[in-house]
Amino acid sequence: MDCKKLLKKLTLREKIMQLTQIIPRMFATDDNGVLTGPIANLSVSEQDLYNTGSSLNVFGGEKSIDLQNRFLKNNKHGIPLCLMQDVIHGYKTIYPIQLALGCSFNTELVKECSSMAAKECSVDGVHLTFAPMVDLVRDARWGRVMESTGEDPYLNSLMATAQVQGLQGDLGKYKVGACVKHLAAYGGAESGLDYNTVDMSERTLRQYYLPAYKAAVDAGVEMVMTAFNTVDGVPAVGNKWLVNDVLRKEWGFNGVVISDFNAVQELITHGVAKDGRQAAEMAINATTDIEMGTTEYLKNAEQLIAEGKITEKQIDQAVMRVLELKKKLGLFENPHKDTNPTLAKEIILCKEHRDLARRMSEESAVLLKNDNVLPFNKDVESIAVIGPHADTGFIKGFWSYASSDKDTTTVLKGFTDYLGEDKVKYAYGCSAELTNKDESQIAKAVEVAKSCSAVVLCIGEVETDSGEGNSKSNLELSDLQYKLVEEVLKVNKNTVVALFTGRPLAIKKLQEIAPAILNMWMPGTEGGPALANLVFGVVSPSGRLSMTFPASTGQCPIYYNHLNTGRPAPNREITYGYCATYIDGPTYPLYPFGYGLTYSNVEYKALELSSDKMTEDGTITASITVENVGDRKVKEVVQMYIRDLVGSVARPVKELKGFKKIELEAGEKKTITFEITKDLLAFYTKDLEFKAEKGEFRVFIGKDSDVEEYKTFQLI
Ligand code: GLC
Repeated sequence: MDCKKLLKKLTLREKIMQLTQIIPRMFATDDNGVLTGPIANLSVSEQDLYNTGSSLNVFGGEKSIDLQNRFLKNNKHGIPLCLMQDVIHGYKTIYPIQLALGCSFNTELVKECSSMAAKECSVDGVHLTFAPMVDLVRDARWGRVMESTGEDPYLNSLMATAQVQGLQGDLGKYKVGACVKHLAAYGGAESGLDYNTVDMSERTLRQYYLPAYKAAVDAGVEMVMTAFNTVDGVPAVGNKWLVNDVLRKEWGFNGVVISDFNAVQELITHGVAKDGRQAAEMAINATTDIEMGTTEYLKNAEQLIAEGKITEKQIDQAVMRVLELKKKLGLFENPHKDTNPTLAKEIILCKEHRDLARRMSEESAVLLKNDNVLPFNKDVESIAVIGPHADTGFIKGFWSYASSDKDTTTVLKGFTDYLGEDKVKYAYGCSAELTNKDESQIAKAVEVAKSCSAVVLCIGEVETDSGEGNSKSNLELSDLQYKLVEEVLKVNKNTVVALFTGRPLAIKKLQEIAPAILNMWMPGTEGGPALANLVFGVVSPSGRLSMTFPASTGQCPIYYNHLNTGRPAPNREITYGYCATYIDGPTYPLYPFGYGLTYSNVEYKALELSSDKMTEDGTITASITVENVGDRKVKEVVQMYIRDLVGSVARPVKELKGFKKIELEAGEKKTITFEITKDLLAFYTKDLEFKAEKGEFRVFIGKDSDVEEYKTFQLI
């Protein structure tokens, strides 16, 4: 397809419709094929409609084929629709939420999962997915932390790359276009309140929030979605500095930029555009190509050109990017891409995919506490599976609406499959709904717990209490769920609490009363079997926190790579005295970034550096010996942190600069090495130059970000 020639054939209005993405409902017709969708309120004519560039969330191969066929029959230039969808952590076989993927510290497995998601959605009518979401997060009150891989820019960048490679790869068969989002810093919403103001220095933006988007761009992502929020006072969709100067000129991205839903029109609500015309002018001049959900471009672009506010050349450039994307996706040759309803029946939710989802759930679960409770013995006489998350398919997370809860292998099913029905008893216990006060089922649950030799207590958040629009001002578990935990523990101490949540929760009280806590996050379609395998030690937990767990809601935002300040809290105990502590509660987090237990004990010894000096173009090697001194095979995430003692700006107390997830047989020891180059030491200096500065550095290697032992070297 020669896109330049095609472009020349288009009228201005046809071009502008290529830059418009409207919801499939707009294409709805009655049995006689007469359009019934509410196109009128978007000022879209029937002729316009069949010039639309793309649609989203069409749901299903047959519908996609039907829509594309109807569309091509009515589109005089034969330009196919690009069908996009939110396939965030799985399509119909749902693997754990992104925050859990970050905790896996396993980029290869993340890539495999992304590839599986691409395969399932590509045969079911999807051409491009609005993923990966790579917004860095520091405040668990924000509902969309579930969609992020966490608080560290280094980890998030590696995870972004793995997802783009898995989803998009070479855009061959069973691959889909990927769209990194949300540029930029959506996770920095003040107070953890979704859609709230984001306001930070350019240094913080560049140092922490931008790297993962750039990693996705460097990995070849085909599309970028702008965020709802302001960036230095200007909402991203209309922010020319962010989209045109940074993303396109500085990073060299020349693909398609799409707005988030209604975000162009929301420039009016933000108060930076007086009307739709000014909103369209801002967004087009920022080089945001596709307007999702609204039609301000359609309504205003022709007038804006007439007024000289934008040029037809700008429209042509945007349309070329959209046509080139469709060409890369092969849509001109095959408008249905990989859509194949027959094949979809074989591929979607196949055993291989379910097994992969289960493996990721096993790898991303984080063992937070274990007072010699786990693993349970397989010869256990009987086990009680109790709680609101014990027998429900709604353990897949907010962004799983293309899937069905009926396809989930529940916790109860996972345990009965593993142990046999005769050994497993169930009780609901209580609701996880925040406002529910009904204690009527607790007594029964206590009876069941009393009658069994072990208990798995499944509590946490309702699946839709995190995700978009679901901000919280209180991260505590409900009193009702604590009542269930307390009553069960009174009759059976051989209990593990399995936490199902889309965010870190302030579970200090649970940490005090429960003998064992296994954080499953929202584990997805195969969360049940994964929990059974973890509880019985078929696999040892190997997840490590990619986001800090606060000890109280009031600590948020809280993260490990913070600055030292002039008056750091000297220890965990102090709570007074003119230093950075709270007087009414803990200052340190409940569980730090990188934390997670296993079923064995791994010792770290003999930290060494190959030299205590490093020249600017040199490298040094850091090494450590890790030994599994327990009696079980485990996976360990060996983490290297570096601290830059003195910089032209204050530097964090630690920064993750390397990790290796390794297997250790019982009694096995390995020497793990990391290479340190000056690139790892670079940061945005006082003059906003990205470079390393000479001076003293500390190297830590340990099991989480609380590691204390270090060795020093000088960059000379
Ligand atoms: C939503 C989300 C975005 C998603 C888009 C399309 O509002 O912010 O992440 O991709 O709309 O559903």
